Amino acid sequence: MQNLESTKALFDRWERVWNNGELDLVPSCVAEKYIRHEDAGERIVSPQEYASEIERLRSDRPNMRIVAYDHAFDGERAWYRVDFKWTDKDSGEERSRASLQVWRIEHGKLAEAWVANHPVGTTWGDAAALERWTAEKGQAATRQLFSTFQLGQLQLRNRVVMAPMTRSRAIGNVPNDLVAEYYTARADSGLIITEGTSPSPDGLGQPRIPGLFNREQVTAWRKVTDRVHEKGGRIFVQLMHTGRVAHPANMPEGSKIVAPSPVAIEGNIYTDTEGHKPYPVPSQMSTLEIEHAIEEFVQAARYAVEAGFDGVEINAANGYLIEQFLHPSANRRSDEWGGEGRDRFALEIAKRTASAIGGDRVGIRISPHGAINDTGPFPGVDAFYLEFAAKLSELELVYIHLVDHSSMGAPQVPADLKAQIRERFRGAFLLSGGYDASRAEADLADGKGDLVVFGRPYLNNPDLVEKLKVGAPLRDADPHTFYTPGPEGYTEL
Ligand SMILES: Cc1cc2nc3c(=O)[nH]c(=O)nc-3n(C[C@H](O)[C@H](O)[C@H](O)COP(=O)(O)O)c2cc1C
Repeated sequence: MQNLESTKALFDRWERVWNNGELDLVPSCVAEKYIRHEDAGERIVSPQEYASEIERLRSDRPNMRIVAYDHAFDGERAWYRVDFKWTDKDSGEERSRASLQVWRIEHGKLAEAWVANHPVGTTWGDAAALERWTAEKGQAATRQLFSTFQLGQLQLRNRVVMAPMTRSRAIGNVPNDLVAEYYTARADSGLIITEGTSPSPDGLGQPRIPGLFNREQVTAWRKVTDRVHEKGGRIFVQLMHTGRVAHPANMPEGSKIVAPSPVAIEGNIYTDTEGHKPYPVPSQMSTLEIEHAIEEFVQAARYAVEAGFDGVEINAANGYLIEQFLHPSANRRSDEWGGEGRDRFALEIAKRTASAIGGDRVGIRISPHGAINDTGPFPGVDAFYLEFAAKLSELELVYIHLVDHSSMGAPQVPADLKAQIRERFRGAFLLSGGYDASRAEADLADGKGDLVVFGRPYLNNPDLVEKLKVGAPLRDADPHTFYTPGPEGYTEL
């Protein structure tokens, strides 16, 4: 909180910058980077850019000066009406403009400004009008990312969601203290969605991924959720069964690589003990095995509640077991689990999980047009997913989380398809893939989604929410440490 005196001092400096061209004062007025909202949109501006903008204006508009201002201050925000006058370069006529501005001030510097230009003579009017304008311009339209959101029974403190990201630090498939430290450091997100976590020993096809199918894992996850909750965070576990995205060298004894049909993925998979190996042909699941796998998901959801998770996300995306059922190239079955019934496995899991722990604690992730693990668009893909979304809506799940990996080289997911899925689904809609703050704000303002999911930006920026808020530069993710064991690139950054 700033007091009135320091706000006045800031304004005095600002006036000297504009009136006298004392550009060296700019860094003491403007935060390292601040967000400037104008009628045409929003820009992040550095002090250097601010100074050069003033320099340009002063040379284009000789005699530019502040001639009058009003201000109000509520301890956090300052409102200004500033009248500028200048001489038109060509005609020599006197010109004027009133700039209506709301400032957010941090540490005695301008951190954010909403600016609207009007003819001179415009005034703020009464305090209520000021409030309305701030709410309209500032909060509702441009800062939704940091506003709360009601997700089922949970209130999220902002709309920044941490994406599910496999990090392969769970030695023995049990999350450890490092995992707890990693998530706790990111607890100021509106919601954390954990890395893919297997509901079954058969779903541990990739190295060192955690599980949630025995007591030891429940106890270990409880430590993670307790620490995240202590910091006021919210956390869902992503339930991910690898299916055919697997190699026996990664899996525990007695487990089996299963899939809807005996079709192997092309290419190689990494193993700790044997390096890269070709994907094996999975074993086709019997009807009994399908029933068993569905029940494993349901039991994992019950364990999730016991472990203190706020909910579960069913991973029906990215070519893992559930998408292997959805996708015609992986599901060649002719029984009721194939063909027209390709969505049955997903729907049964969603339905029974929702009835076990409540639909308001179950979200689902889908990836139409995804390209990972031998998926990719198929004929009728859009119609298939629209129908699927409508059926998910009937089950009253709390959200659909849409994957878009076009920023990673996958095909674009048509904007129209996203909009139509959102329309057909009653719950919340989570947007993901390649987001930064301004695109997130724009998509929220356009009503394209309710929450925005950030993946890679979280890896080397545990304080992502704060950085997005102030427009601070982000550290790039380092792919070399995505899946390595140990703290490097994980808790040691
Ligand atoms: C290291 C890494 C691991 C990932 N693991 C998972 C996962 O376990 N489950 C999942 O659904 N998506 C996973 N993803 C995909 C991300 O959730 C997200 O969709 C992707 O990174 C695109 O978002 P971004 O552009 O914000 O990074 C992973 C991505 C990365 C970079």
